[in-house]
Amino acid sequence: MTESQIIPAVRNSADVLILGAGPAGLVLGNLLLAAGVDCVVLERATAEQVESRSRAGFLAANTVRVLERHGLAEGLRRHGREHALCEFRTEDGSFRLDYSALGRGERHTVYPQHELVADLLAQYRRAGGQVRFGTEALAVLDAGTDRPRVTTDGPEGPAGWRARYVAGCDGRHGAARRSLPPGSVRRHRHDHGVSWLGLLAEAPPSLDAVGYAVHGRGFAGHMARTPALTRYYLQCERGSSPGALPDERVWEELELRMRAEEHGPLHRGPIVHRAVIDLESDVLEPLRHGSLFLAGDAASLLSPSAAKGANLAVLEAELLAEGLIAQLHRGDPGGLDGYSRRSLEHIWRAQEFSHWMVQLLHRTTHFHDGLRRSRLASLRGSRSLQDWFAEHYVGV
Ligand code: APR
Repeated sequence: MTESQIIPAVRNSADVLILGAGPAGLVLGNLLLAAGVDCVVLERATAEQVESRSRAGFLAANTVRVLERHGLAEGLRRHGREHALCEFRTEDGSFRLDYSALGRGERHTVYPQHELVADLLAQYRRAGGQVRFGTEALAVLDAGTDRPRVTTDGPEGPAGWRARYVAGCDGRHGAARRSLPPGSVRRHRHDHGVSWLGLLAEAPPSLDAVGYAVHGRGFAGHMARTPALTRYYLQCERGSSPGALPDERVWEELELRMRAEEHGPLHRGPIVHRAVIDLESDVLEPLRHGSLFLAGDAASLLSPSAAKGANLAVLEAELLAEGLIAQLHRGDPGGLDGYSRRSLEHIWRAQEFSHWMVQLLHRTTHFHDGLRRSRLASLRGSRSLQDWFAEHYVGV
């Protein structure tokens, strides 16, 4: 079979092809477009799916600064809500931390991620940006050359794309990762051995804080999403089915672990979304292979323990945009040459804190339980540890 039979005739091209319309891909697309760089976003889902996927919604102060810097923060400024309280409920009592009075005094902005993605998409299209929805990238070919190609399948059938650079913003299972030649990157993977049942309830938040409950039966978490929607997490056995427990039992278990008899009942409501999440982390090194760059979950996967995934994606998108603009407009390769190293510094810092949080919130061996209780006692009593916590909890 000749190559022309394998690779469809080239029908499309762009200076930068962006795979994926999530936070990483859409921030990158908006920044490149604003700088006059020719780019196209290829997204396998439909616009409706992209705009409705319920994900995290906890934006770090730096993320808000990046979005404001580039005129992408109007929606979050209008509808986002500042947040700076977390509450720990443990077998040794409970305590609250107002992290806006600790560390650098920064706050989170709670803004549902699907609304941020919808804002980014609307801004990109208003500026004339091209997104090909329903178009799945199948492979990135010749990434090690300065003429990479991307094969896709979409509404018009198989197609081929040429680009000068390809940005893999298509997540941990995307084509970018799959296309990396064996041995071109190292994958550092860690399975935390813990699973969470992630729940979205049509119920108002029950606390004015992010709630972290550590209980003999396991971890439970509470995170406001909007005044009418609340995210809960229940630690569960690995391999559990999301629908194993009826709503009634889920609420009973949440109240038990969050010590409702001491702190008051939770606001209940229908559970409208469930998913079991195995807490895993991984980091690829380096984040570049020739003309192919990785950003967001394609670069590194974080456990949801500190809600940092989308924040890292935005930061990496800005670093990559700066590098691509410098190279394409001024022939300056410095930003691209330094992209992997600079992003990995932020990634490892976020990984370290997320790992620390996983160990703080989950009971494992008796020895680790002693460490966990001691760590919580230090966090409760030590101002210097509270400052460290605040700086890493909100920082990226
Ligand atoms: N071709 C085209 N698009 C693809 C492909 C593919 N082969 N594979 C995945 N996609 C799309 C997905 O449909 C999704 O819209 O890539 C996008 C990836 O978006 P995210 O998973 O949101 O990843 P990212 O932009 O890296 O954001 C990272 O945001 O989703 C939250 O907290 C989550 O940590 C995560 C963070």
